[in-house]
Amino acid sequence: MTTPDPAADHAPAPDRAPDRAPDPAPVPDPVLEAAPSRHPVPQVDVAGLRETYRRGQLVETDVDADPVVQFSRWLADAVAARVPEPNAMTLATADADGVPSARVVLLKDVDQAGMTFYTNAGSAKGHDLAANPRAALVFCWLELERQVRVSGAVTPVARVQSAAYFASRPRASQLGAWASHQSSVVSSRGELEAAQTAAAERFDGTDVPLPAFWGGWRVDPVQVEFWQGRPGRLHDRLRYRRRADGAWLLERLAP
Ligand SMILES: Cc1cc2nc3c(=O)[nH]c(=O)nc-3n(C[C@H](O)[C@H](O)[C@H](O)COP(=O)(O)O)c2cc1C
Repeated sequence: MTTPDPAADHAPAPDRAPDRAPDPAPVPDPVLEAAPSRHPVPQVDVAGLRETYRRGQLVETDVDADPVVQFSRWLADAVAARVPEPNAMTLATADADGVPSARVVLLKDVDQAGMTFYTNAGSAKGHDLAANPRAALVFCWLELERQVRVSGAVTPVARVQSAAYFASRPRASQLGAWASHQSSVVSSRGELEAAQTAAAERFDGTDVPLPAFWGGWRVDPVQVEFWQGRPGRLHDRLRYRRRADGAWLLERLAP
């Protein structure tokens, strides 16, 4: 009888070797060389972390001709699989100089017009979108070994729609929106809590109105890519591109 090896779970997956060429020799960074850090970084063997994806596959004949319908199916799968925050998505924007930034926001609506999230117009992303109204989104549902990437133009949603969504939020979240000049520097946690208290006093006994600086933005997709992990890093990637006539072109991409 063999004894189970407690290290077996951590053994590299059999498909690790042919994944990629060896990394090139590091190029010395003159800044780092000149000023070595006095704070040693705790070592995590990230190079050795490796999973083999074998939960599913993605076949052209199985997907819907419309990527929004296909996306909604995958979102429903993520909800059914109890993925935490299945509507969380990374939103990438770029400023007027093309400098990119990314952060997580929540998808709050999806239909043929696009994918909607809500935020503060005065935030970094709000400024980016005012200067450069295009964005990319990434959904990552690791429990299903799936990723969806979306890109397209961004437009503010109608104020009446933002007001309806704002009214549906818990009162504390509504007050938080009033209290937070999102992405500006604050002196302390106390400053924020005082602003929340001031907002609560200001709107005591009334509904909290939609702030002028807060609302929804909708990404109108021109490209949507569905990614399903497969063994040996031979993943399935199907990308939809919207043609000028509005029809969707479906293409398979190399992983
Ligand atoms: C799971 C999760 C959900 C979030 N949802 C939102 C959201 O819907 N809207 C929002 O403005 N920020 C949301 N945030 C906070 C943003 O990631 C970010 O901190 C904030 O919007 C400021 O970003 P900016 O400085 O790039 O504008 C969320 C963060 C996490 C981790």
